[in-house]
Amino acid sequence: MSNQKTVRPKGSLLAALDVGSSKTSCFIGQIIDDNGTFEIIGVGNRPSQGMKNGKVVDLDAAESVIRQTVHAAENMAAEVMKGYPLREVVVNVSGMNARSFGHSVKADIGGHEITDNDVRRALAKAQERESKDNLELIHTIPTFFQVDGQDGVRDPRGMFAEKMQVDINLVTADAVSLRNMSSCVERSHLEISSLCVGAYASGLSSLVDDEIDLGCTLIDIGGGVTSFSVFHSGFMIYCDSIPLGGKNITNDIAKGLTTTVEHAERLKVLYGSAMASQGDDGDLIEVPRLGEDERGNPNHIPRSFLVGIIQPRIEEIFELVRARLSDSGLDRVVGRRVVLVGGASQLAGMRDLAEHVLDKQVRLGKPLRLTGVPDAVSGPSFSTVAGLLTYAAEHIDEMPAEIIAQIKPDSIIDRAKLWLRDNW
Ligand SMILES: Nc1ncnc2c1ncn2[C@@H]1O[C@H](COP(=O)(O)OP(=O)(O)OP(=O)(O)O)[C@@H](O)[C@H]1O
Ligand SMILES: [Mg+2]
Repeated sequence: MSNQKTVRPKGSLLAALDVGSSKTSCFIGQIIDDNGTFEIIGVGNRPSQGMKNGKVVDLDAAESVIRQTVHAAENMAAEVMKGYPLREVVVNVSGMNARSFGHSVKADIGGHEITDNDVRRALAKAQERESKDNLELIHTIPTFFQVDGQDGVRDPRGMFAEKMQVDINLVTADAVSLRNMSSCVERSHLEISSLCVGAYASGLSSLVDDEIDLGCTLIDIGGGVTSFSVFHSGFMIYCDSIPLGGKNITNDIAKGLTTTVEHAERLKVLYGSAMASQGDDGDLIEVPRLGEDERGNPNHIPRSFLVGIIQPRIEEIFELVRARLSDSGLDRVVGRRVVLVGGASQLAGMRDLAEHVLDKQVRLGKPLRLTGVPDAVSGPSFSTVAGLLTYAAEHIDEMPAEIIAQIKPDSIIDRAKLWLRDNW
C-alpha cells in the first residue's frame, strides 16, 4: 500500500506459477538483499493442457502439467531448498477472469494527522462496495491521493488535513474460475499464497520505473488471451483483456492454407510477419498438405499470402485494445508509451503494426532484472511468471486481506469519534 513498501526478508524463498493458455511456468526465487531483490534458483516450463483462453477446461490435464512444472523447478532449486518441498505459490489470474474498477473514497480527517488506519479504512470502504458473492477481490491499489484539495500527494500518512480523497483501482476475479484454478493447484499439494492479475505481473517485471511513473500501457499477447494494463504515477490504474492471441493466428493459418495446426505454428514462427514487406511476393514457402505425410507433394505459396492471413487478425487484436482503452477514458491520461510482451509479441513486424494501429510509441519488452535464468526462459513469454515473483517480493501490502487485517483496533474514544464522524 502506498509507496512505503514492505519487502520480504533476505533469504526468503518465493515461488510463482503462471498457468497460461499455451504454457505453464514455475519460477522459484530467493531474496538476496534487504530491498526485495531476488535471484532465480529454479525454473520449470511445460506446454499447457486443459486450458482455454485463460480458463481451466480439464482439471486433470491442467493439474498434471502443474505438478510436472513445479517438480522441474523444485529439482533445479533442490540444493538451496535442501529437500523441503514448496508449500506456497503466487498464482496468476488470467485477464479473462478479472475486471478492474475505479473507485473514489472521501474521508473526513478533522484536522488531525492522517494515519495508516485512515488510509486502510478508505480502502476497506471501496472494497465493501465491490463485495459480491460471485466475485473475489484480487487487488486494492490506491492510485491517487488528494489532501485538502491538493493533488499529487504520494503518501498522505503523517500530513495534517481536514479531508482526504483516495482513488482506488479494485481488481476482482470471477469466483468460479478461481475455484477451478485453486483446486488444480491444491491437488498438486500447493497452497496459493496470493493471486495477481497476469498483466499487472507482466508490467512489474518488464516496465522500467520511468514508464510506471510517467504513464505506459503494457500489452501481453499470449496464446489465447491479449491482456493489458495501464500504469501511471507508480501504480497500475486499469487492466482488461481480449480473448484472442497467438493461437488464433495459428488457427487462421491452418484453415487458410489447409494444413495442420503444427505446420501452421511452424510457418508462423519461421516465415510469418504482422506486416507486408517488399519481396514477400517473390518468396515462396512450402506448405505441407493436410492429411498427407511428410513425403507428399507440398504446396508452394508466396510469403505475402501468409502475411495476408496474419495481418488482419493482429489488426483486429490491436483495434480491440485501442477501443477498450478509449472506452476506459484513460487513454489520454496515460500518454503514448506502449510496451509489448507475451509469446506472440515475437512475431516479426509486431512493433510496427502496433505503432500504426494504436498511434503510440511502441517498444518490445521482456522481463528485466532476471539473473541466473537460462535464455530459453527469459523471453517475453516469461514476463508474467517473473512479475509474479516481484509481486510476492514487494507488494505484500496490496493483498486485499492484508488491508483489513492490518487495521489496528481503535481505542474506545477513537471509536466513538469515528462513529460520530460516520453517523452525523
Ligand atoms: N517466435 C515467435 N513468433 C511468433 N509467435 C510466437 C513465437 N514464439 C511464441 N509465439 C506464440 O506465442 C503464443 C504463446 O505465448 P505465451 O507463452 O505468452 O502464452 P501463455 O501465457 O501461455 O497464454 P495466455 O497468456 O494467453 O494465457 C503462442 O501462440 C505462440 O505461437
Ligand atoms: Mg500469458
